[in-house]
Amino acid sequence: MVVYASLTGNTRKLARAIAEVLGVEPQDVRGAAPEGLEGIHLLFVGDGVYALRPSKAMVGYLRALPPLRGVKVALFGTYGSLPTQFRLMRRILEEKGAEIIGEFACPGRDKVTLGLLRHGRPSEKDLAAARAFAREMARKAGYALLKSSS
Ligand SMILES: Cc1cc2nc3c(=O)[nH]c(=O)nc-3n(C[C@H](O)[C@H](O)[C@H](O)COP(=O)(O)O)c2cc1C
Repeated sequence: MVVYASLTGNTRKLARAIAEVLGVEPQDVRGAAPEGLEGIHLLFVGDGVYALRPSKAMVGYLRALPPLRGVKVALFGTYGSLPTQFRLMRRILEEKGAEIIGEFACPGRDKVTLGLLRHGRPSEKDLAAARAFAREMARKAGYALLKSSS
C-alpha cells in the first residue's frame, strides 16, 4: 500500500511513480482510513517537509494507525533543503512496532519561493530513482514484481 500527503503536489509525483511499479493505486492520506491496513505487509509512506516537520494530516494518520508489528515500512518524500520530516514519521511508526526498511528523498519545487528554488524537481531522473527504490524495497520485503517497468 502507498499512502502519501502532498500539500503542493511534489510528493504526489513520487507516490504515483512508486505505486505504478507496485501495481497499486496511491492513497491520499486525507481519504485513507487508518484501520484500512488489514493484510498489508509492506507500506510506503510519503510526505513533504513543512517547517521541519511532516504535515499535520500525516502525523494525525500515523498516530491513529493500529499496532504495526510485522509491517515493513518504506519512507519517501520531497524537501526544500533537508528531509527532516522522516524523523517524526520514523518515531511514530517504530513506536507502533513497524520495521523501517528504507528511505528515499529528493528535492521538490518550493512554492514558498514561487518555485524558484528546486525548480523542475522532482525531475524525470528523480522519478526513475523513486521507481528503483520501490523495486528494491519490494525485493527486500520478499515480493516478486510481475511488471518490470523502468
Ligand atoms: C509552508 C512550507 C514550509 C516548508 N518548510 C520546509 C522546511 O522546513 N524544510 C525544507 O527542507 N523544505 C520546506 N519546504 C519545502 C517543501 O518541503 C518542498 O517543496 C516539498 O517538495 C513539498 O512537498 P509537497 O509538494 O508534496 O507538499 C516548505 C514548503 C512549504 C510550502
